[in-house]
Amino acid sequence: MVAPVSILPQNTPGSGPRDAFGRRMNYLRISLTDRCNFRCLYCMPAIGMKFQPRDEMLTDDELIRVVGLCAKLGFTKLRLTGGEPTIRPHLIDIVREMKAFDGIEELSMTTNALLLGRLAGDLKEAGLDRVNISIDTLDPVKFKMMTRGGRFDLVWQGIQAAEAAGMTPIKLNTVVVRDQNDADVADMARLTIDRDWQVRFLEIMPMEGVGVVYDAGLVTSEETKSRLETEFGALEPVSADPSDPARTWRIPGARGTIGFISPISAPFCESCNRVRLTADGNLRLCLLRPDEVNLRDMMRAGATDAEMLQRVRSGVWRKPWGHRVAEGERNTIRGMSQIGG
Ligand code: 5AD
Ligand code: SF4
Repeated sequence: MVAPVSILPQNTPGSGPRDAFGRRMNYLRISLTDRCNFRCLYCMPAIGMKFQPRDEMLTDDELIRVVGLCAKLGFTKLRLTGGEPTIRPHLIDIVREMKAFDGIEELSMTTNALLLGRLAGDLKEAGLDRVNISIDTLDPVKFKMMTRGGRFDLVWQGIQAAEAAGMTPIKLNTVVVRDQNDADVADMARLTIDRDWQVRFLEIMPMEGVGVVYDAGLVTSEETKSRLETEFGALEPVSADPSDPARTWRIPGARGTIGFISPISAPFCESCNRVRLTADGNLRLCLLRPDEVNLRDMMRAGATDAEMLQRVRSGVWRKPWGHRVAEGERNTIRGMSQIGG
């Protein structure tokens, strides 16, 4: 996908640093760890997964410093990701400190929910507003297969705990993989009939280490939507926030909604308002492109706040536009668990 030169610069409204295309960044996704208590088949290879040494990871103090600087620059939305963010030590304290920065309007997390049964209440109390939960099927046997060992019952308890703690609206993320869970999408969507939840179907992406799963497994949003319409009849469109990559629909009469996230068949680069911070302290400018800005090394070499702010600003300015994944380009370098989705 090529930047539409005719409309540049577009100067999106709002706060946050701007890139050379005029897009404003106000959403920082923060990977707290590259480790995980699951091994989802579209995220990690079956064998040979390498994790980064601890001393390459940002310490809590370094992490909080970078996030505080981003808040100063006008980032208003934070999301904690992984790997699995709930396995990061001192998570509750990290949440409390991040939420306390001036200008942070929303703090959320993407999690597999395995540990939410015991963490949800404390997380909410510390300031976590919402969670997106990754869950690909309601069938415990398939669930175990897709996560390579994960327990569905505990995840389901985690979802209930998040809802009970008031981390609403609950959003579930389902990566649709051919011959794994593509036949389960109607069961997932059916959850929205009686619940005020959003169930979102994601196109699989060819992240580092799992390219073969993508090659055999891609199911486009269009295909998933027609499968749902065969089951439930025509879905009704629901209007949504333009910076939300999900296009949103509703089963007629349902309480909740259904979202489609289509990075492959319909890239949403134009409305992109996000950059990512990896657990090892790199500002990752695009999920599917290797461009990164190293913040950790300058920080460890004694950089001042002013120098760090300048590095973030100039990094954002160089944020790339577009990927050519649908055309066969592969350049992710990092796996999903090192970037956080
Ligand atoms: N393609 C699409 N989504 C993925 N996720 C992990 N790996 C992939 C992939 N290869 C999802 C997780 C989670 C989110 C952070 O990214 O299921 O919902
Ligand atoms: Fe863990 Fe999420 Fe990757 Fe699954 S997709 S292995 S839950 S980080």
